[in-house]
Amino acid sequence: MAKRLLDNIAIATLVPGGEPYGFVRDAALAVADGGIAWVGPRADLPADCASWPREDLEGRLVTPALIDCHTHLVFAGNRAMEFEQRLNGATYEEIARAGGGIVSTVKATRETGEDTLLADALTRADALIDEGVATIEVKSGYGLDLDTELKMLRVARRVASKRKVRIRTSFLGAHAVPPEFAGRPDTYIDDICLPALEAAHQAGLVDAVDGFCEGIAFSPQQIEHVFARAKALGLPVKLHAEQLSDLGGAKLAAEHEALSADHLEYLGEDGVVAMARAGTVATLLPGAFYTLRETQLPPVELLRRHGVPVAIATDCNPGSSPLASILTAMNMACTLFRLTPEEALAGATRNAAKALGLTDTGTIAPGMRADLAIWNVEHPAELAYRIGFNPLHERIFAET
Ligand code: NIG
Ligand code: FE
Repeated sequence: MAKRLLDNIAIATLVPGGEPYGFVRDAALAVADGGIAWVGPRADLPADCASWPREDLEGRLVTPALIDCHTHLVFAGNRAMEFEQRLNGATYEEIARAGGGIVSTVKATRETGEDTLLADALTRADALIDEGVATIEVKSGYGLDLDTELKMLRVARRVASKRKVRIRTSFLGAHAVPPEFAGRPDTYIDDICLPALEAAHQAGLVDAVDGFCEGIAFSPQQIEHVFARAKALGLPVKLHAEQLSDLGGAKLAAEHEALSADHLEYLGEDGVVAMARAGTVATLLPGAFYTLRETQLPPVELLRRHGVPVAIATDCNPGSSPLASILTAMNMACTLFRLTPEEALAGATRNAAKALGLTDTGTIAPGMRADLAIWNVEHPAELAYRIGFNPLHERIFAET
């Protein structure tokens, strides 16, 4: 990317410590070679940037490009029939225990070829990109055998070769026990999950290791076994924790210096304290809360009080969160969880970057990647306010 001067803009830098949102009016931003070269009030623009190709953006708002830090973007089929079952009274857990749920998507994903999986994933990636997203985390976990776990991760990485987007992959072999190992979760972990993790890591397909710690999935002891292997391979961990019950998953994750613990509706104060100490991000997923008609709210006030960074993500998946809109997730986080619009925006930028271990994106400052979103709004609170409006003017993706 050559030099480019974005002039006559408002900026929400999301750099903490100053104005709310890091808001700067009458600003300019200079981009060079995919990075932010300078940012600040127009009046202070350095003389050498003044001659760069300049665009008058007529007062539009510029934010860091958005980051969706928790998705299951690669999968086959859909679970509309389960949606219907739930509306007829069945619960998510009952459906899972009866062999539906995650396991039904596993069957479909195993049977589907890479090109079809990729085409489907691209439609969902496009929906996110259209809302200013430049980084998407994508999990495996609908394969639960070696070949399909690797297939999912390859497809996820291929999304970045087809679109201008950064993809971070998480290995989620400990997502559910596949039918062929029913009642034998430990054998599944030893015989399939850990060898698949090693193979995926060898193939360079893994940025982080995730798990699902829950009564319908894996116990803390089983998750710990997976985390130990992640550590031996030098990979960071994250965890689906405290979504349906409190098994102490977030505390376990924090003890392993997890990048994030995700969902967290049933998180107690001991887990919050452990996360604060470890710097583990709390990734809240209001799309799953909404879809499952959950009534237990995540402990937002405790997270604030203990200074745990909060991220927001779509959890885009065919079962508990068929949502491919980060702006809607931000709106839901405000309305359902009572986050402020500033917290929601930080959750889809600065803290989402932290949840992925990324230090070069999520805020606007010199030296950061020029992953930016330009919006047809006057104030950053507007981004979480509307439902079903997309005010994106342009997304800039740093091609470095
Ligand atoms: O993040 N909690 C577990 N995993 C997914 C659900 C996946 C599914 O139902 O297919 C989640 O909500
Ligand atoms: Fe998830």
